[in-house]
Amino acid sequence: MALWRRFWGGTSKDIAVDLGTANLRIFLEGKGLLIHEPAMVAVNERNSNIVAVGTAAKDMLGKTPPHIITTKPLVKGVISDFEVTERLLKFFLDKIYSENFSLIPRPRIVMTVPLEMTEVERKAVEDAAFAAGAREVYLLEGVIAAALGAGLPVRESTGNLIVNIGAGSTEIAVVSLGGVVNKRTLSLAGDDFTKQIIQYSRDVFNLVIGEKVAEDVKCQIGSTQDWQQPAEFEMRGRYTLTGLPRQVVVQDTQIRESLYKSVHLLVENIKAVIELTPAELVADIYENGLIMTGGGSLLHGLDRTIARETDIPVRVVDDPITVGIRGAGSLLGNVDLINELSLPQAGSRSR
Ligand SMILES: Nc1ncnc2c1ncn2[C@@H]1O[C@H](COP(=O)(O)OP(=O)(O)OP(=O)(O)O)[C@@H](O)[C@H]1O
Ligand SMILES: [Mg+2]
Repeated sequence: MALWRRFWGGTSKDIAVDLGTANLRIFLEGKGLLIHEPAMVAVNERNSNIVAVGTAAKDMLGKTPPHIITTKPLVKGVISDFEVTERLLKFFLDKIYSENFSLIPRPRIVMTVPLEMTEVERKAVEDAAFAAGAREVYLLEGVIAAALGAGLPVRESTGNLIVNIGAGSTEIAVVSLGGVVNKRTLSLAGDDFTKQIIQYSRDVFNLVIGEKVAEDVKCQIGSTQDWQQPAEFEMRGRYTLTGLPRQVVVQDTQIRESLYKSVHLLVENIKAVIELTPAELVADIYENGLIMTGGGSLLHGLDRTIARETDIPVRVVDDPITVGIRGAGSLLGNVDLINELSLPQAGSRSR
């Protein structure tokens, strides 16, 4: 076993994978971030063949005939479709192998995972990675990966508060000495903001808009604080009163109103985590500031709203959508550090 491991370990490169509800990111040791695509697969149900993956599958969304199904492997941050997960991972890992001739397959894979996971969910992640060709699988909590990517001293005895707002889930975690001291997971995140906009459009304008339009509205004029200039967006959808297409101009103030409840709930949960954190760590957090990661943290003004409500300085990290995979990627090649920071293995396979 040891000899076998030395042989393979000496020649193959490590890989890190951050599989999220919206996006899949893969990092290859020595090469960097190679894959960053929507976590989506389109399958032809007649023959079970994959029709498209990643961006190509997302582009088909809402436009496929009934026998072509577009699915996301994760729902609210957790694997819900094992087979799709495995096929998505395998597709992109095979692509990496074929484009990197020097790379011997069967790599060591570090997978980022949510804070709250059942044994079954945990096994599903491990199995998907093994099935996609991993030789060894290590599970690293996504917030630890994000903290590493943000350059925080995660292994030191100082408290850092990370708020990772993804597409399907938000994780609020106090990290110190390489571990998570206090945490809370919400199913409220970027997708929820998008859904609120869809709902608002239907309630206020009688206009049914698609997810893509709503996400565009959110990213273009969505906010929790005033823009310097008022902003507006032309939304196209179906007018429910006639069933025909219609265009409606929506103002940034209206979108802010539609997001208000979700943002308020998010802030309340952050406060609750701070309230339950030991005083020494709270002092550190006040000193170090709250760190925001994940695509949802790009919502305009959210950092300022959280800072105002919590009285703590807030910083959105650079490139919050890739910070987790960059953090996990920074560990590659250093087995000791991977071992120190990743979750203990409970699975049936040993390292
Ligand atoms: N400029 C922006 N403004 C607001 N939201 C944005 C912006 N850019 C991206 N987002 C949102 O960020 C989310 C995707 O973020 P991210 O890639 O971190 O999620 P994920 O890791 O796939 O999901 P999760 O961690 O919840 O499983 C989407 O909901 C997207 O709409
Ligand atoms: Mg994520």
